[in-house]
Amino acid sequence: MPVTVVVGTQWGDEGKAKVIDLLAANHSHVVRYQGGHNAGHTVVVGSQRYALQLVPSGVLYSQVTPVIGNGVVVDLPTLFAEIDTLQSRGVSCERLRVSTLAHLIFPWHQQQDAISESLRGDSRIGTTLKGIGPAYADKVKRIGLRAGDTRDRERFRTLVKERATQENAVFASLGEPLLDVDEVVERYDGFATRLAPHLADTVNLLHDALANGSSILLEGAQATFLDIDHGTYPFVTSSNPTAGGACAGSGLGPRDITRVVGIAKAYTTRVGSGPFPTELHGELADRIVEVGHEFGTVTGRRRRPGWLDLVMLRHAVRVNSLTDIALTKLDVLDDFDTIRVCVGYRLDGRILDAYPDDAEVLARVECVYEDLAGWHQPLRACRKESDLPTQARRLIDLVERSTGVPVSIVGVGPERDDCVVREVTR
Ligand code: GDP
Ligand code: IMO
Ligand code: MG
Repeated sequence: MPVTVVVGTQWGDEGKAKVIDLLAANHSHVVRYQGGHNAGHTVVVGSQRYALQLVPSGVLYSQVTPVIGNGVVVDLPTLFAEIDTLQSRGVSCERLRVSTLAHLIFPWHQQQDAISESLRGDSRIGTTLKGIGPAYADKVKRIGLRAGDTRDRERFRTLVKERATQENAVFASLGEPLLDVDEVVERYDGFATRLAPHLADTVNLLHDALANGSSILLEGAQATFLDIDHGTYPFVTSSNPTAGGACAGSGLGPRDITRVVGIAKAYTTRVGSGPFPTELHGELADRIVEVGHEFGTVTGRRRRPGWLDLVMLRHAVRVNSLTDIALTKLDVLDDFDTIRVCVGYRLDGRILDAYPDDAEVLARVECVYEDLAGWHQPLRACRKESDLPTQARRLIDLVERSTGVPVSIVGVGPERDDCVVREVTR
């Protein structure tokens, strides 16, 4: 039965959650497979706006089982705050399942994130300070605590105490404030009680669901160019948002996956530091930020804006095996005279034929643009392809021609129904 991966193709905030919410209507399980509460996923349904960090975006449908997969790092205070907010708004989270294999984030991870950013000074990454990198580092160092460790409460208390005490020794040597070990142990013991009904062997749960004919949606957070391997290292997150990460982070195998939808904003944004070839500054940049409401859902930071970059998108097609593309936020470009699209990179007078494997090179490339005329009319009411003005269709054509991948969904507004779903052969 079908398994669809939804993956960001830029530097995040492409509108993944909106597309997931749209596709979730036809799925029984929606699974987050990596990242943590660094993600900010916004879903708008009528007058209601939901900003999700850890709970999968399919939670708004009562037929969907939302699953936090083994590849996610889970911050329990955030998870329960999010559940409480959703339940207070009438969205039941009882069905939520959390993998016993998912690693937990603890207060020392957040403190380590802040210390490491301040030590980097001007070369800081601009992380969300949520402790994501340090939690994944502990996972790889094989000293992390997992959600399943909460099942044996005495052992869990001992492990939390040991880890907190070890981290305090390091903080003491750095002259940093110390954690109140007993307070942390008690607090996390309380979280363990709350987590118990949600804990599950999600790997077997998903395989059993597949065997019973269910369809599964795998929800990526962050994006291709924030990927620890394929992104603009070191200005990346500490997990694999790319489609390969969906297998590792859910326990489904590569041959289970039938569709990989890449989400691309009709322009580009980036939060935090790092190279950005099509970045804009000045009046044009301010206009995109204002019209597109480009401020981080999690940290409130202004997102850096730029034009759509097809060199990056072609690379995202390669590393994710994209079957189709959802081109979002096209309506943000409604009132521009000229819409620029980067179709190539030039370095020292030479055209590069592929996305460079060196962030230093990426920082130096000059973009080759194709300029398209704007459409000067609101797209928000468009629901079928023929509603879209010719100029907007030219942009879609350019994306398809340049990537060789069909554009299956076009976003024309933030709400669930604000989109054009196109008939494409994948
Ligand atoms: P995600 O992290 O990829 O899920 O994206 P975010 O939720 O962080 O940011 C995308 C923002 O754009 C949200 O505020 C969405 O409500 C909004 N959005 C999504 N798709 C569209 C669209 O097609 N048009 C407009 N105008 N807004 C959109
Ligand atoms: P969604 O899922 C945009 C960025 C941070 C920083 C870098 C590393 O909403 O698209 P981290 O805290 O992960 O160690 O920070 O990654 N970043 C995101 N940028 N959208 C996100 O998530 C992001 N999650 C992390 O700004 O540059
Ligand atoms: Mg986001």
